[in-house]
Amino acid sequence: MLRRASVRVCLGRALRLSSIPPPTSTSSYHSSHLPRTTAFFLSRTMSTFHQEPHKLLVIPGPIEVTDEVLYANAHPSMSHISPDFIPVFGDAIRMTREVLFTQDAQPFLIAGSGTLGWDQVAANLVEPGENALVLNSGYFGDSFADCLRTYGAVVDEIKAPFGGTVPLSEIEAALKSKKYKLVTFTHVDTSTGVLSDARGIAATVRSASPDTLVVADAVCSVASEEIRFDAWGLDVVLTASQKGLGTPPGLSILVASQRAIKTFESRKSPVTSYYASWTKWLPIMQAYESGNAAYFATPPVNLIYAYNASLRQITGATPSLEERFRLHRESSQRVKKEAEQLGFKQLPLDPSIAANGMTALWFPEGLAAADLLPSLAKKDVVVAGGLHKDYKLKYFRIGHMGVSAIDSQRGDIDKVIAALKESLAEAKAKKA
Ligand SMILES: Cc1ncc(COP(=O)(O)O)c(C=O)c1O
Repeated sequence: MLRRASVRVCLGRALRLSSIPPPTSTSSYHSSHLPRTTAFFLSRTMSTFHQEPHKLLVIPGPIEVTDEVLYANAHPSMSHISPDFIPVFGDAIRMTREVLFTQDAQPFLIAGSGTLGWDQVAANLVEPGENALVLNSGYFGDSFADCLRTYGAVVDEIKAPFGGTVPLSEIEAALKSKKYKLVTFTHVDTSTGVLSDARGIAATVRSASPDTLVVADAVCSVASEEIRFDAWGLDVVLTASQKGLGTPPGLSILVASQRAIKTFESRKSPVTSYYASWTKWLPIMQAYESGNAAYFATPPVNLIYAYNASLRQITGATPSLEERFRLHRESSQRVKKEAEQLGFKQLPLDPSIAANGMTALWFPEGLAAADLLPSLAKKDVVVAGGLHKDYKLKYFRIGHMGVSAIDSQRGDIDKVIAALKESLAEAKAKKA
């Protein structure tokens, strides 16, 4: 089990603020809002809060969250229009930009899951009858295509081989043969652990069809894989709170370029959703960022506190974002190397396209999910089975995102590797 069972509340002593730094600034920060948010953390007094002992959650999301984030989630109920809450929301919007290295793209933080990001794209950026191209590298590509069709888009898909990515030359050829309003790709397809070349895809689309929007489903990559929104020329990055962003599930996080916002603003037909409409949400995001409250639908107040706390850890000075990506790569390499030494083969067809926040492994010959996963769970290590319908009983997935990947003192990666070794030895002994 993780940690000792202790929840100790000592009034008068400060929460471990060292690990929740104040926001570091980028040019997009409105510094006038900082003291209030910082005051929120300072005003809460709790010396040590440790979450209850539990099995180590190393599926590719939701992931382990820090005590500080969980404690922020336990904030007393607040009005969503309270002057204390407004800067917490505003700072969360600003820090979201920092994580993606963008100066002026527009974040949308809306109660919902990652799936709501697909709905936002389909409802706001494509008009019925317009063409969309989906680069499909697994289960989540199927779903994004399905969502786009639901809103009336005419969808073409280029399907990668299982465990592979779509070659840039095929993307270029498709874009030259037909006009597409947007291209979508799954940055890390969580069903396969395959990492697509976001920078290369964006550059290819920009050069072959400059008006086409580039949309990244980055639910399983934000904050665990490097994403340079402005420098790479992305138009939408959509994600959710429960993976690399280290927050409990329940928040849809989408960032749209000013180009995408202009595309939305110049629609000829009405937006095809009520809850997902940017007509409703854009003024809300702008209001909170400028220090005012506005209402369309109640925001998930406590989750925004938790997300703000996690963003402070992610954008804080130590480790820097660059170091965070390096630590994810190192943890990933450790898991992958150890697994290979044990005889597991990776699902991605080439190591260069394997994600850094998760690992997908084929079961060795003669073994199946039932031989390994319950045994790992008995050792308090929870991994995920396969997801792709054709192969789901043949492989499994380990998540190593967020605090499990970057805080080696927790020993999460050691624990995963040790449990894998033991469970494999036990399974082999049973079969012998
Ligand atoms: C790549 C990817 N896209 C979209 C989703 C959908 O997100 P959610 O389950 O939060 O709705 C997931 C969920 O795991 C995902 O991994």
